[in-house]
Amino acid sequence: MKDKQFLMIPGPTPVPERALLAMAKHPMGHRSSEFSAIMKQVYQDLKWLFQTEEDVFIYTSSGTGAMEAAISNLVNPGDKVLSLVIGNFSERWAKIAKMRGADVEKINFDWGQAVDPTVLKQRLDQDVNKEIKFVTLIHNETSTGVTNDLQALAAIIKEHGAISIVDGVTSVGALPVKMDEWGIDVLISGSQKGFMIPPGLAFLACSKKAWKAYENCQNPSFYFNFGANKKSVAEDTTPYTPNVSLIVALKETFAMMKEEGLENIYSRHAKLASMTRKGLKDLGLKLFVEDDNIGSKAITAVWPPEGISVPDIRKTLTKEYDIVVANGQDKLKDKIFRIGHLGFVSERDIIMALGALEATLKKLK
Ligand SMILES: Cc1ncc(COP(=O)(O)O)c(C=O)c1O
Repeated sequence: MKDKQFLMIPGPTPVPERALLAMAKHPMGHRSSEFSAIMKQVYQDLKWLFQTEEDVFIYTSSGTGAMEAAISNLVNPGDKVLSLVIGNFSERWAKIAKMRGADVEKINFDWGQAVDPTVLKQRLDQDVNKEIKFVTLIHNETSTGVTNDLQALAAIIKEHGAISIVDGVTSVGALPVKMDEWGIDVLISGSQKGFMIPPGLAFLACSKKAWKAYENCQNPSFYFNFGANKKSVAEDTTPYTPNVSLIVALKETFAMMKEEGLENIYSRHAKLASMTRKGLKDLGLKLFVEDDNIGSKAITAVWPPEGISVPDIRKTLTKEYDIVVANGQDKLKDKIFRIGHLGFVSERDIIMALGALEATLKKLK
């Protein structure tokens, strides 16, 4: 049967009908008063979700665009950047900063582990001359299914005085992220995750402290420019033509999120994660991240059973049951598979995926 495919990858995530229908309408003019009213609402809703009083910029790009925006508006060549790496996406910050000419130092943790706050504290305590200007880190590492203790890490960075630059692509909208209360300086995210709309928009908020670094940036980006975006937020618009249809859809998914309420969204994700982890263990599978304290609420990575390959599991799940799960990335390609349970996902979806996985494993035995 066609049109039944169900995405259980960590992005793009399923999109509710309310958002799909909103996108089916003719696009409106991006400088019209009708669209400005939508922008005004969406900008307010972004502040609510990011839990910040700062403006949240909207870029027409994927999440990596917002990562590039952060580095290119803040970092000058030669600036010292400390990158906390726990997987593929946290490594991306280091790559972007290096291309920008920064002096990048990485602290690598094993894939499947979280950043150890004591290691970060020790390194920052050694930096008595305050040479480290920026620390890049991730909240939820999608390649491994690990969640860092962002609150603790942001506090350590704040105490040192460096600017924290945080990837919240698979955490914002799925797990609590309190930008202002936790003292995060720059927080970015992307539309195809907890926001429940397709790929194509990215978001960025920047603290007053980080804004000073922007003012000292010698060659900031043109397209992603912080100053141009701040001016546009004040005027309920964007500097250039945005993806109008996605913003219209976002207004709808924000309405859904507000109806559900932040705490309920977070507890739903926590419940789906614990159902997934328990269900996988009940099937006799070994979780890639065994420690429940760092296991992600948005995505779970799992080893295949002895004698059955990841490509066979993924192929059979899609062919027989129309369910798509993600492969491992980089050095974990074909070694683990990853189940996304963020965004527009309910308990029924988890039960369905676990049932289909059980049948798949029986078939492949
Ligand atoms: C944590 C994280 N950061 C960054 C990205 C990159 O986002 P994009 O592929 O939208 O550029 C992803 C994408 O999956 C991600 O999960």
